[in-house]
Amino acid sequence: MTEEFETDLPDTTEDQMRSDEERLLDELGIFGESRRRFLGQASGAAFSVLACQILAEQKALAFSETQAAQPDISLQNTVKVAFKVNGAEKSLDVDSRMTLLDALRERLGLTGSKKGCDHGQCGACTVIVNGRRVLSCLTLAAQCEGENVTTIEGLAKGSDLHPMQTSFIKHDGFQCGYCTPGQICSAVALMDEVKNGEMSLMTMNLRQKTQPIQLSDAEIRERMSGNLCRCGAYPNIVDAIREVHTGKPTDPLALGNSLRKEEIDATV
Ligand code: FES
Ligand code: FES
Repeated sequence: MTEEFETDLPDTTEDQMRSDEERLLDELGIFGESRRRFLGQASGAAFSVLACQILAEQKALAFSETQAAQPDISLQNTVKVAFKVNGAEKSLDVDSRMTLLDALRERLGLTGSKKGCDHGQCGACTVIVNGRRVLSCLTLAAQCEGENVTTIEGLAKGSDLHPMQTSFIKHDGFQCGYCTPGQICSAVALMDEVKNGEMSLMTMNLRQKTQPIQLSDAEIRERMSGNLCRCGAYPNIVDAIREVHTGKPTDPLALGNSLRKEEIDATV
């Protein structure tokens, strides 16, 4: 059974179609013999398809002509940035909109800093600028003129790893490792924040400024909450940071039995 659909639209007569086609051909600039041939060959449906194709080609041509008239877009916004990266002087011509993360990875080949979300939400891109941790995906390279940038590649001294790197390895503070450069840079800057007596959301008494601050596990977690780990290596990351913070070497296996139990007891 075929269904009939009623519509308020008036019937399209052959004359109306022909005048629409004529108007469209005027707009397309098709005249004379080619116009007669075109109308003679094109049925109603085929006409629409052909007209669309021609319009699309004309638009593409206009677009490419406009583009060709423009100079290379990367040359329109160039700024020169001179800064220190891992102790070495660097000078780059970068697009004014380029992020620090892209400049480090794409221009300087420092691919340790990772692009996770590119939206300031995961912390994988964390680097240290003038001693403070920053999200390099939300920092423009042009903002770093004269600044001192440290990435994960700059933490070790030759073959001697930074104590935070050693502790992450000892405590197995990673699985896939994608978040790890950001976690370690964040943890290194965190140690300086603590030495400077900077408060956090977990600081109990804001009036009593103690220096240096003694970090509880809860406070380590809070201060590291901007660094996400999809592998869920959080307990081991906290162990690694605690060991560097207290300076007391701990046995990861023993921690598994004692501190985990304390944490569980505290939450019951
Ligand atoms: Fe910068 Fe996720 S990549 S915060
Ligand atoms: Fe895989 Fe953190 S170790 S995301």
